[in-house]
Amino acid sequence: MSDKAVEDLTEAEAKAELTMLAQRLAAADLAYHRDDTPEITDAEYDALKSRNAQIEQIFPHLKRSDSPSEAVGARPADGFAKVVHAQRMMSLANAFDDKDVADFVEGIRKFLGLGNEQTLDFTAEPKIDGLSLSLRYENGVLVQAATRGDGETGENVTANARTIADIPQKLSNAPTVLEVRGEVYMDHADFEALNAAQTAKGGKTFANPRNAAAGSLRQLDAEITRSRPLHFFAYAWGDLSEPLADTQLGAIGKLNALGFQTNPLTRLCDGAVALSDHHRMIEQMRATLGYDIDGVVYKVNDLSFQSRLGLRSTTPRWAIAHKFAAELAWTWLDSIEIQVGRTGALSPVARLRPVTVGGVVVSNATLHNEDYIAGLDSKGEPIREGRDIREGDWVQVYRAGDVIPKIADVDLTKRSETSVPYVFPESCPECGSAAIREPGDSVRRCSGGLICPAQAVEKLKHFVSRAAFDIEGLGSKQVEQFYKDGWIKEPRDIFELNARYSSGLKQLKNLEGWGEKSAEKLFAAIEDKRSIPFGSFLFGLGIRHMGEVTSNLIASHFGTVDVLVDVLERASTDPSAMEDLLSIDGVGQVMAEALVAAFQQDSAERASIDRLRHVITIQPAEARVGTDSPVSGKIVVFTGTLETMTRAEAKARAEALGAKVSGSVSSKTDILVAGPGAGSKATKAQSLGVQILDEAGWRALIGD
Ligand code: IVH
Repeated sequence: MSDKAVEDLTEAEAKAELTMLAQRLAAADLAYHRDDTPEITDAEYDALKSRNAQIEQIFPHLKRSDSPSEAVGARPADGFAKVVHAQRMMSLANAFDDKDVADFVEGIRKFLGLGNEQTLDFTAEPKIDGLSLSLRYENGVLVQAATRGDGETGENVTANARTIADIPQKLSNAPTVLEVRGEVYMDHADFEALNAAQTAKGGKTFANPRNAAAGSLRQLDAEITRSRPLHFFAYAWGDLSEPLADTQLGAIGKLNALGFQTNPLTRLCDGAVALSDHHRMIEQMRATLGYDIDGVVYKVNDLSFQSRLGLRSTTPRWAIAHKFAAELAWTWLDSIEIQVGRTGALSPVARLRPVTVGGVVVSNATLHNEDYIAGLDSKGEPIREGRDIREGDWVQVYRAGDVIPKIADVDLTKRSETSVPYVFPESCPECGSAAIREPGDSVRRCSGGLICPAQAVEKLKHFVSRAAFDIEGLGSKQVEQFYKDGWIKEPRDIFELNARYSSGLKQLKNLEGWGEKSAEKLFAAIEDKRSIPFGSFLFGLGIRHMGEVTSNLIASHFGTVDVLVDVLERASTDPSAMEDLLSIDGVGQVMAEALVAAFQQDSAERASIDRLRHVITIQPAEARVGTDSPVSGKIVVFTGTLETMTRAEAKARAEALGAKVSGSVSSKTDILVAGPGAGSKATKAQSLGVQILDEAGWRALIGD
């Protein structure tokens, strides 16, 4: 590392140093993660990282595509054991303005079928900006503390949690099993003091209290956590042997009585107006609270309503986070760069003169697409009163929550007279293929498919990512290197790596950053994933529009890849195959078409999938939910008027029991639930011999 102050570096020196830092940090990562033999101390590692970040801040345009600052996951994370949560840790849907709040309340009233005269109460409480933690108590004793992780699996941080004063080790009069969930945070004063102490001893400082809290909790040495002043607010629960109360407010009161800190700004509100009022009140107090909050969370108070409303895949229907307005800052837009993604989308990125927005230094922002730059929305209507965005402009940047920074506006009075409108490229900057914009699509896409190196590399990165094949030791950086060296061009190549280069161990060893031990570890990690769950395989293919949750739903719907392929091959000619696909929750026409296109016979993409299938084993998927439910896996259609619940509630309940709810009757339908006024669907079901139940019969069947 050079001794020169970052401000004094020439551009050439900065570039050379970034290259050197990327290499040294990559080598250090490998030594630490794969070889378990760290070559440098944590402090040295942090110093290299911080130097890299400082240079990138001043020379944002020199930031490398394999920049170490983009590396995901804090270093110590690998050291924690994994914990599978007994109940998934959910996230929250967001509301950004009063209208979203009114829609949320109205949607719930409709779902529950409440009449005008019926009241519906909500709790409203600050949304703490920390990290969530689940504490498991058995017989009143704290037995486990786990971070949220991906919601299903978190990290076991029990030893660390035991050092936090707000977390009781023992409870009296608690349910036999009690999982308390809440937020670990650091208050402002402690955060300032910690950063000052870190600076004094030349240690790492934190960008904001949330990072400080996360970094302090996720320490392999619990004694370090003990030295950090962390706090905990309880606001929810997971597994329970008996109910805490009938209402949200009552349950929170119970947690408080058991010895947990609960937020004193929690209020009961009787509708959208009261909720928004409380939001405004908390927003006004925000700066005086002494800890960071980023919104107000609303929850339906009646717990029997909560259970009727149930959960979507990652968020409950009965709660929402009403965020505060985004924080804003002005800065120069130095240049516009085009990045090519996995599906060929050309994404414009603004390279900004670094600026602090809400406590975080921002040097890049998304510009969405060419219309957005030109000052138009997706319908061709003007945004920013039609002002376009140009290189060299003075622009307003905002961050809303955790999302990528965006450009809100541009100040035309500061625009140079020589500036010219930005011309969006019509060919791919990576492979030169035509970049085409389909009618009705806001995005321009590279038509090069797998011949485009950017698309190929992004697809490979996605393939090895955590929710897909999750190959340990093969991260974005390694994929880029292997692609560049011609070792891996498509997913199949990963599994041929060892065999094709049986002398490969030696070759890999000679590659910079790899030792014999790390190469062996990599081949073992690849072998480990040669047999893969169907859902992870499907997600790994990186098909447009297909997320992790939907991939798993599709996998459990069809069970095996052969069944899926058969349906996809028939889908363009056989309407019942298409209907089968569309009956899956979350699969719409656009996604179904993308899936069919990816598996189209004779296409390059299909050929690549088939080559992959030859070298791996795809494990059949298990049925989604409790196979003991009498309607699990059944296709159910609701028709006519339902009397004891709304259509939305009936659908959600059936799906929670593993049934598939379809809109139309076909020979595949298992059950038709017909209320009064059922018409042609009932007639059709009868002629097809489908089981027909009235609402009471349905409720009896599902044990309601
Ligand atoms: S309730 C089932 N209440 O926000 C609902 N979450 O965006 C579980 N959070 O992962 C969450 N303050 O880490 C709830 N008062 C609050 C919260 C809160 C902060 C966090 C929590 C959650 C995230 C969702």
